[in-house]
Parts: sequence; C-alpha cells; structure tokens
Amino acid sequence: MKTSTLMLGMAVLIGATVGAGIWVANTLPSPEQREKPEANYQQAVYSALHFKPAIESADDAQCLACHKEILNDKPRVSSPAGARAENAKAWYQQLTTYSGEQDSFHRRHLSTPFAKQVMNLKCNFCHQGHDPRDEAPGTSATAPKQTDTAFTLRKQVNPETTCLKCHGQMPWQNMALPGPWMESKEAFQNNCLLCHATVRTVRHQVNYLHANAIEEAGKTSGDACYGCHGGRAWYRIAYPYPRHAWPDMPAETPDWAKERAMESEARFAILPTGKK
Ligand code: HEC
Ligand code: HEC
Ligand code: HEC
Ligand code: HEC
Ligand code: HEC
Repeated sequence: MKTSTLMLGMAVLIGATVGAGIWVANTLPSPEQREKPEANYQQAVYSALHFKPAIESADDAQCLACHKEILNDKPRVSSPAGARAENAKAWYQQLTTYSGEQDSFHRRHLSTPFAKQVMNLKCNFCHQGHDPRDEAPGTSATAPKQTDTAFTLRKQVNPETTCLKCHGQMPWQNMALPGPWMESKEAFQNNCLLCHATVRTVRHQVNYLHANAIEEAGKTSGDACYGCHGGRAWYRIAYPYPRHAWPDMPAETPDWAKERAMESEARFAILPTGKK
C-alpha cells in the first residue's frame, strides 16, 4: 500500500514537472523568436502597425494575423441570467435590410451579406492608430498633443470621421422635404431616386463603398439608402457631406452648403467611373 502510494505520488510529480516544462516551452519565446520583433506581448502592443505611418498602408491580413478574434467572435446566445438574444429585437434589427441573427459590431461591418454588398471597409478605414499607453492626449511627451482635434478622448477610433458618415441624421431640411423621411416617405413612394436620379448624382465615389451596388439596392427600396442616411442614426446631427458638382447643378449655392467641401476626403476618393 505504502509503496504504491509513493509510486503514484512520484508519477504525479514527474507528470507535473514534465507538464510544467512543456508549458514553459510553449509560452516563453525561444531564443530565435526573441530575436524577431513582436515576439512577446509588450512588443506586439507596440507593433509599428499600431501607429502612423505603418497603419495607413496596413492591409487587413496583417492586422488579422494577431486579431483573428475580430471576425470570429460571436455574441452570446443567451445572457448569463438566461435571457436569449433571439427573443430580444433591437430597433436596428427591424430594418428591412437586416438579415441573420444578432452579430458583433465588427462582423456587421466586415462580413455580413449586406455589409459586403454595399461596403468595402478595411481595418484602417476606422483604425488610424492609437496610443496604447492611455488613450488621452497631452499626458506625456509622446502622446498626441492636446490640440490634436483628430483625437477623441478614450476612444480608439475617431467617430466623427468614421461612424458619422453612415450613422448620422437625414438632413431632410436641405432637401426641401416637407418633414422627416418617416413622415414624408409615403408621398415619395419610399423612393429616394425620384429626386436623386437627377440631383446630387455624383455620389459614393469612395473606396470604402460599392457605388454601383448601392444604386441597384436603392432601386428596389429607399430603405437601402435611408439606412446609411438616417435610418441607423446614432447621432443627432447629420454628416456634412461633400457636395460634388452634378450635371444641371443650379449656379447658386444655398446658404447651408456654402462651407461644404466639393470633393470626398482625399484619403478615400476615387476617380468617377468612366473618367481616367
Ligand atoms: C504582432 C501582433 C499584432 C498586430 C500585427 C496588430 N496588433 Fe493590435 N494589438 C496587439 C496586442 C498584443 C494588443 C494589446 C491587446 C490587449 O492589451 O488587450 C493590441 C491592441 C490593439 C487594439 C486595442 C485593443 C484594446 O482593447 O486596447 C486595437 C484597436 C488594435 N490592436 C488594432 C490593430 C490593427 C487595426 C492592426 C493592423 C493595422 C493591428 N492591431 C495589428 C497585437 C497586434
Ligand atoms: C467601422 C469601423 C471599424 C472597422 C472597419 C474595424 N474596427 Fe476595430 N474597432 C472599431 C471600434 C469603434 C472599436 C472600439 C474602440 C474603443 O473601444 O474605443 C474597435 C475595437 C477593435 C479592437 C479592440 C478589441 C475589441 O473587440 O473591442 C481590435 C483588436 C480591433 N478593433 C481590430 C480591428 C481589425 C483587425 C479590423 C479589420 C479586420 C477592424 N478592427 C475593423 C471600429 C472598427
Ligand atoms: C460606410 C458606412 C458605415 C460606417 C462608416 C459605419 N457603419 Fe455601422 N453600419 C453600417 C451598415 C450598412 C450597418 C448594417 C449592417 C447589416 O445590416 O448587416 C451598420 C450596423 C451598425 C450597428 C448594428 C450592429 C448590429 O449588431 O447589427 C452598429 C452598432 C454600428 N453600425 C455602429 C457603428 C459605429 C460605432 C461606427 C463607427 C466606429 C460605424 N458603425 C461605422 C454602415 C456603417
Ligand atoms: C423631393 C426630392 C428628394 C427626395 C425624395 C430625397 N432627396 Fe435627398 N436631396 C434632395 C435635394 C434637392 C438635395 C439638395 C441638393 C443640393 O445640394 O442643392 C438633397 C440632398 C441629399 C443629400 C446631401 C445632403 C447634404 O447635406 O449635403 C443626401 C445624403 C440625400 N439627399 C439623401 C437622400 C436619401 C437617402 C433619400 C431617401 C431616403 C433622399 N435623399 C430623398 C432631394 C430629395
Ligand atoms: C453603406 C452606406 C450608404 C448607402 C447604402 C447609401 N449611402 Fe449615400 N452616402 C454614404 C456616404 C458615406 C456618403 C459620403 C461619401 C463621401 O464622402 O463622398 C454618401 C453621400 C451621399 C450623397 C451626397 C453626394 C455628394 O454630393 O457627394 C447623396 C446625395 C447620397 N449619398 C444619396 C444616397 C442614395 C440616393 C442612396 C441609395 C441609392 C444612398 N445614398 C445609399 C453612404 C451610403
């Protein structure tokens, strides 16, 4: 009895030692790995890819090499208290363009069918680099300056130059519509193209949108257009859209448009199709 207990104890001990050895070998970088940049957590956090200028030209595959979970993680099927996600419908899940079950923020912009149909977003459309030390400006010599208006306190991306583009209010006042779209859409057969077949026709010439697919979707229903122009609004303001000249554009500029850019943001603009 005594001997077998001792034997068992030794077996456990040996097992544990071997196990720990394997564990150490698996987590600590090997000497060769240590030579390479980004071999450990600290180095990965300060990967050049998290900062300008490298982040500006990074492609998604480079980011996904470390951040695969961004596309793989799914929301819980039910809350810890047992409330099932499928039984709760958020307002944005009731839009006619919404399909499938509750999904993650990143997947709704990068991998859902509707996202892929109308958009072509890349990691660095939103992620322009952030300070991993403390997401606040002016706290150290290396942090962004207090005067840096591109910086949003405690946020990793700047919502005004990203989210607001597609999640602002519909500026119906600028369109001389009789009221908000939800009240006036019946009068226009829920069809933005009634007017927009001839007004502000130079649109969506940016590398993060599929301009042709958007026009196709808009022919079937105004809901596809309204989704990005008020239907999924997280903001009380509208995005100040650039105002591209279009054929038959009135010579006089309305007051609200006087400060507007005439071109899309340079970092996204593409030449109108057909022109070289
Ligand atoms: C070499 C691996 C590696 C690469 C490549 C990489 N990251 Fe990271 N990233 C990390 C690590 C590690 C962290 C710190 C995670 C933590 O502390 O939770 C991090 C943090 C982040 C964070 C902040 C997360 C948080 O919760 O604070 C964002 C956003 C991010 N990375 C985006 C990107 C983007 C976009 C790219 C591509 C341009 C990229 N990363 C490339 C490893 C990497
Ligand atoms: C539509 C804009 C957008 C796109 C596109 C986008 N992200 Fe994000 N990402 C965000 C926002 C917003 C957050 C939350 C930031 C915060 O907490 O301040 C975030 C958070 C993260 C984080 C932190 C962990 C987490 O889940 O919150 C990582 C890592 C990350 N993104 C990586 C990526 C990678 C890799 C890609 C490309 C495959 C990508 N993102 C594409 C907007 C975007
Ligand atoms: C280029 C347009 C575009 C930009 C920029 C954009 N979104 Fe979206 N967003 C969409 C579209 C389109 C959908 C609907 C996708 C679908 O139905 O699958 C959506 C859906 C969402 C949803 C619903 C998610 C869900 O679970 O269904 C949230 C939340 C959201 N966006 C937040 C944001 C935030 C925050 C930002 C900025 C970091 C942002 N979006 C930037 C177009 C955009
Ligand atoms: C009754 C005609 C009419 C209808 C219907 C209409 N619009 Fe407009 N829209 C206009 C006019 C007119 C302008 C302003 C033209 C200018 O720049 O002088 C405009 C401007 C816009 C702008 C730019 C606003 C800005 O501030 O620069 C967007 C975006 C837009 N419309 C989207 C839509 C969407 C989406 C729908 C359908 C949900 C829609 N419109 C329905 C007539 C209309
Ligand atoms: C996936 C989101 C999305 C969808 C769907 C969408 N838009 Fe847009 N729209 C945008 C964004 C973002 C801009 C600003 C692009 C830029 O900066 O040039 C824009 C700009 C515009 C403008 C301003 C044009 C100008 O002068 O530059 C008009 C008008 C417009 N959209 C109408 C429509 C109509 C009509 C539809 C449906 C056929 C539609 N949008 C569908 C995101 C969307």
